[in-house]
Amino acid sequence: MIRMGTVGTNWITQQFVEALALSGRYELAGVYSRHQDTADAFAAKNQAQTSYTDYEEMLTQADLDAVYIASPNSLHFDQAMAAIAHDISIVVEKPAFSNRQEMVAVQAALAQHPDVKFFEAARHVHTPNFQALSKALLGLPTIQGAALTYMKYSSRYDLVLVGDVPNVFSRQFSAGALQDLGVYPIYLAVALFGQPEHVQYYPTLIATGADGKGLAVLRYVGFDITVSFGKTSNSYAPSEIYGLKETVSLDSAGELTHVSERDAAGNVTDLSQPALANPMLPEVTDFARVLDAPADPQNQADYRRWLQWSTTVNQVLYSLRVSANLRFPADEND
Ligand SMILES: NC(=O)c1ccc[n+]([C@@H]2O[C@H](COP(=O)([O-])OP(=O)(O)OC[C@H]3O[C@@H](n4cnc5c(N)ncnc54)[C@H](OP(=O)(O)O)[C@@H]3O)[C@@H](O)[C@H]2O)c1
Repeated sequence: MIRMGTVGTNWITQQFVEALALSGRYELAGVYSRHQDTADAFAAKNQAQTSYTDYEEMLTQADLDAVYIASPNSLHFDQAMAAIAHDISIVVEKPAFSNRQEMVAVQAALAQHPDVKFFEAARHVHTPNFQALSKALLGLPTIQGAALTYMKYSSRYDLVLVGDVPNVFSRQFSAGALQDLGVYPIYLAVALFGQPEHVQYYPTLIATGADGKGLAVLRYVGFDITVSFGKTSNSYAPSEIYGLKETVSLDSAGELTHVSERDAAGNVTDLSQPALANPMLPEVTDFARVLDAPADPQNQADYRRWLQWSTTVNQVLYSLRVSANLRFPADEND
């Protein structure tokens, strides 16, 4: 069993530990929270072996194989570097790091600790529906672009409207719509089509100074992808990828629960795979496979591919922000 620790006690960590339990491959060895009562409550609810309010203490005492980092984005880097220094593998919520400089430093640290693995928790690109989507695209005669959308009103925008600055709408925490929801369709574009040649971001800024929604254009050789995302309004539009007369559709570029293809004659085939018991189950199963058998050639190839996606997504997010002059305090030394 893989001994996992956690950072952060919001709903996403709860969903993650439920996925760990469902996979049958992990034990929850340590829970870290800034507050003892939160740490204890989370540990009790999920039968964790120990709880901590000192992160370093968890890293030294809990005998972890890996730690899941689901804190605000700007904190991921220091928490990841500390784990690597202790030879503990890291599963980092997306977006894993604030900018290119942090990603480069993490990769340098990984090179010094070759047994440590870094996974970015990009749940949707590990799903059977992503496989179905990739397979459908291989059958298209050409690719002429895509329109990807992921837009969900955030209850935390209610707080912005009364003058607060929640973490998710704060540049201080390397957050905003691009980082929080834009990362899903950007991940999809990178995993399916690789690194774009040129990118441009048109953000809509809100009172906190962060982007509340926005439109990004990813320019590839021969086609463009428009990416529409936001946390201040709702979209019910599907996402589409264009062949010639064929169109592949997704319910949303973030949820990826339905995939279908309309062929040249207009016939629609549902390509969706069975619903998942937990949306994070495929990724934790994939990560366990690599952690348990890192020398397996297939696992090595998959790990290298995920690392390449993560590195490219980090570059694309950063370039998009540069194109819109949208800077974070974490970029200070960049
Ligand atoms: N994969 C997905 O589908 C998905 C969905 C949502 C979020 N995310 C990602 O998950 C990460 C966390 O997002 P979130 O919305 O849950 O963030 P959040 O609510 O702002 O914070 C997450 C946790 O970090 C700790 N924390 C909060 N504020 C902090 C501060 N000022 N200093 C230190 N620790 C603090 C809290 O844990 P304690 O109080 O216990 O210390 C909190 O439970 C982000 O990277 C986000 O992009 C991913």
